[in-house]
Amino acid sequence: MQISVIGCSYLGAVTSSCLAALGHDVVGVDINERIVAELSAGRAPFFEPGLQEILSEQGSTGRLRYTTDPSAVAGSAVHFVCVGTPQRAGENAADLRQVDSAVEGLLPHLRPGDVVVGKSTVPVGTAARLAARIAEVEPEATLVWNPEFLREGFAVEDTLHPDRIVYGVPDGPAGERARAILDEVYAAPLSDGTPLVVTDYPTAELVKVAANSFLATKISFINAMAELCEVAGGDVTALADAIGHDDRIGRKFLNAGLGFGGGCLPKDIRAFMARAGELGADEALTFLREVDTINLRRRDRVVEMARQILGGAVADRRIAVLGAAFKPNSDDVRDSPALDVAARLDQHGADVRVTDPHAIPNARAIHPHLTYVTSVDEAVDGSDLVLLVTEWREYATLDPAALAQKVRGAAIIDARNVLDPVAWRGAGWTYRGLGRP
Ligand code: UDX
Repeated sequence: MQISVIGCSYLGAVTSSCLAALGHDVVGVDINERIVAELSAGRAPFFEPGLQEILSEQGSTGRLRYTTDPSAVAGSAVHFVCVGTPQRAGENAADLRQVDSAVEGLLPHLRPGDVVVGKSTVPVGTAARLAARIAEVEPEATLVWNPEFLREGFAVEDTLHPDRIVYGVPDGPAGERARAILDEVYAAPLSDGTPLVVTDYPTAELVKVAANSFLATKISFINAMAELCEVAGGDVTALADAIGHDDRIGRKFLNAGLGFGGGCLPKDIRAFMARAGELGADEALTFLREVDTINLRRRDRVVEMARQILGGAVADRRIAVLGAAFKPNSDDVRDSPALDVAARLDQHGADVRVTDPHAIPNARAIHPHLTYVTSVDEAVDGSDLVLLVTEWREYATLDPAALAQKVRGAAIIDARNVLDPVAWRGAGWTYRGLGRP
């Protein structure tokens, strides 16, 4: 099938290359020349495990190409909209300008029977509005809302082998036809037994934000329990294991620590609250305000812990910050709790040395004044305190005895609860986890 993908940054780069891997002829269109140049050369424009391989593989089949020319979508029967919906500056609501302009750019090229597939995360009601706009120009084209659930770090895997596929389609024969076309697009995962939920536009839009809100709530729930453990002397990791054995609860997403960040969860729950307010259902999502607050409070807690360990003030003390990305296996620093903590300590006058295996260039672009180093050794050299803030495997497996030789003060805050307190204390470290005695 001939498919166009509009927007080739994170979501679009992964979607386009995976659609080619599913056997389709794909053209990716983006206004960003750098991204198009990188993708055209078969190079991943950001760090994502497996993306590089799939791009070079699919690029060489001739089934995958990238361009800045918006008219390249002409000739495709299916058009995926994969642009970003960031948080509006100074507001909680989503900024839909990229989605609107992607659809406007498509309109002159649409032909009867074409299917437009919305993948971006949007406020509920957007699909109906876009469908009406499409109908003004090409009444025989159909919009399907098909949210994406991929996780950074596992994006290729999640796209090729999704947990579920959701289509929001209009009622009637046009919807039936569009559904059949998408069944063809996703023939491979569907034949592997991937569950399919076919529903209306608002439900499909809500599935995405509901899923992200649930995940965010789960994380803030366990972080609230961590706060309780901290005052009562309990261990939140044992608590999470114990409640996680109840399969109605489940152990996944119960890792207490520095909380959630990234380009999705924080902005999605805020945009969801803003949209609920517009719809007069503000009260239904008041709890998400608390989820957001608990999440941000974890960052205060780590800064406060650093101050306590260093005898009341962090000014002029050297602090090694291990991690800048919002999570491991990603170079993404959008709303990164790790980088936020580093920046706050720097503001309080600490001599902060930040390291990360992949995210330093992105971190530098946001916080150019911080000191970045390329290895753990350089970060910890002569440090008074070590902070593990992103649980990269190489940080979670550090040898406490060897590291103790390099620091000035053997104190560590394990803000992701991935180290063994017994081993670290045994090697002479002052060890502090979050929600752990
Ligand atoms: C998320 C959703 O998981 C994905 O389905 C959706 O499509 C996009 O948003 P992503 O932002 O890539 O994906 O990361 P995710 O793995 O969900 O982690 C989000 C944040 O939560 C990270 O900062 C992570 O460190 C944090 N987290 C996750 C915890 O603090 N504790 C946990 O137990 C799990």
